[in-house]
Amino acid sequence: MSILESVAALIVSGTMLVTNTLNTACPQNDPEGLLLVNRSWRISEDFIPPTRQANVPGQVRRLQPHVADALEEMYAAAKKECSVTLVSVSGYRPYDKQERIYRNKLKRVRGDVEAADAYVARPGTSEHQTGLTMDVGMRSLSSDKNLSGAFGDSRGGIWLRDNCWRFGFVIRYQEGWEEITGYSPEPWHIRYVGLEAAEKLHENNMPLEEFLLLERTAVMLELLSQNQESGE
Ligand code: DAL
Ligand code: ZN
Repeated sequence: MSILESVAALIVSGTMLVTNTLNTACPQNDPEGLLLVNRSWRISEDFIPPTRQANVPGQVRRLQPHVADALEEMYAAAKKECSVTLVSVSGYRPYDKQERIYRNKLKRVRGDVEAADAYVARPGTSEHQTGLTMDVGMRSLSSDKNLSGAFGDSRGGIWLRDNCWRFGFVIRYQEGWEEITGYSPEPWHIRYVGLEAAEKLHENNMPLEEFLLLERTAVMLELLSQNQESGE
């Protein structure tokens, strides 16, 4: 592929990051190795990542193996650094489980699709299906307070917000990002992006969508300058 063809491909993929069309994410073609799954980027029903049970307290504890490693390390640090016992509430969810969760949410909000969509991803568009995501709770909070704003204000939630990047995670849905991420703030929903990206995302306080767009633009500008130098 020539430099200009690469630039064109980057422009297309960059533009697609910010459109509202529904595209299929291809983990194997992911340029940054960061899998973007959101309202516009769905994964196929058949996408089933390798997972293992994370050795942490709580409920659904399955995650991709390298993510389970990072989670275990992070929970141990939370215990050591602020005496908080973090628990797992919901990790890997296959397509059909997400389908059930969405359907139940829709019932609870009496068929109000907009209300359901603000909180629960439709099947095929949830990061939980990637095995890279965990909903974190705190053992000392009652179950109705975990997965609510109360978790974000708790000692565990504050520690998670300030420290999860050190283990390669980001808080994916934050206040002020709703237009970009498509979801209301979820201080409990962490997504593994790796140490390097997590540090950059934390430092720049930006959602994954914006980060990927900037990364692709930077690669594109670099390619264009190489092209000018080589006179291609
Ligand atoms: N609550 C998040 C958006 C999900 O269902 O994946
Ligand atoms: Zn979640």
